[in-house]
Amino acid sequence: MPRPIRATIHSPALAHNLAVAQKHAGAAKIWAVLKANAYGHGLLRAAEALKAADGFAVLDFVDALKLRSAGIDKPILMLEGFFKPEDLPLLSRYNLTPVIHNVAQLEMLEKVTFVGKMDAYLKVNSGMNRLGFTVDNVRLAWNALEAHPGIGEVTLMTHFADADGEGGVTAQLQWFNELTQPFDTAPRSLANSAALLRFPDETRGDWVRPGIMLYGCSPFLFKTAEDIGLKPAMTLSSEIVAVQNLQAGERVGYGMTYEAAQEMTIGVVACGYADGYPRHAPSGTPVLVNGQRTGTVGRVSMDMLCVDISNIEEAYIGTPVTLWGEGLSCDEVARAAGTLSYQLLCALAPRVPVVEVAAGV
Ligand SMILES: Cc1ncc(COP(=O)(O)O)c(C=O)c1O
Repeated sequence: MPRPIRATIHSPALAHNLAVAQKHAGAAKIWAVLKANAYGHGLLRAAEALKAADGFAVLDFVDALKLRSAGIDKPILMLEGFFKPEDLPLLSRYNLTPVIHNVAQLEMLEKVTFVGKMDAYLKVNSGMNRLGFTVDNVRLAWNALEAHPGIGEVTLMTHFADADGEGGVTAQLQWFNELTQPFDTAPRSLANSAALLRFPDETRGDWVRPGIMLYGCSPFLFKTAEDIGLKPAMTLSSEIVAVQNLQAGERVGYGMTYEAAQEMTIGVVACGYADGYPRHAPSGTPVLVNGQRTGTVGRVSMDMLCVDISNIEEAYIGTPVTLWGEGLSCDEVARAAGTLSYQLLCALAPRVPVVEVAAGV
């Protein structure tokens, strides 16, 4: 007898969101970013729904292998490249495209022989200061890759730190262009979702790399997913499993942080932080009970959370509750909890049963 919680993945919404990305991308090709189990949506399920993408970007070799084992022969971009010399023959064998972002990787490339040629991405640090070659070594990296007999096409890549924020992309774009000016003719890949949506003309290059928008969430604080035309691809839902009537002054949950100001009724919902719901979501975080909007009360516990159902029509044990997704954007819930939809989606716990809806949007 399973708990009533479940995540519903709307595959047509994934396909729809990809079409939105394609519209913005124009002639540029699309890497659908599938890292972190496709932002919690399921690697193979998302790959199938996003099969119109030109390639898939992942982090882990096992994910790349799962895609290949499922018969996917599109390009696969390894976003952090490789970690050990012994990874190189595997990349070559499975026709994976590594991102090369540091000198240690160049040294490994010099040491290991592998059969055939693999394409590579040369990552330039244009200001985010996380991964990538800098002004000191970008030319060295380019020369090493160009001269390497096992490397095919080299694409220049960078990643924006603030494409969704005040900083925008101007400074990074300018520095990237300066650093790569000597190798001007190489293809390029710059844009994440925010850059693609906000600065498409400047950043689309030859390949774009949308992630969050494919899953129906907005990369922006100032624009909702709906404004962008995106549809939620994951709905986390559950049911009320207990009802409590409180008198004024009675308190709720661990730490007794919430006190009823007047008589009220609360529903106890089968969803907690062990399911991936954020523990730090404060009282008042939005939730839908029987399709009607209300808020959480008290602390989220491991397996349960409480919601105010005083003014909800038809709220009993068994009444459906939407934690996020259709009718309640994950972005809004995340914001109330002081985080981002990225984190909520990726945190969906393996114990939550997943149901796929393959038709309708
Ligand atoms: C290198 C790289 N490109 C693209 C993406 C996709 O970003 P977003 O989900 O914001 O579209 C990510 C995700 O963090 C990334 O690390």
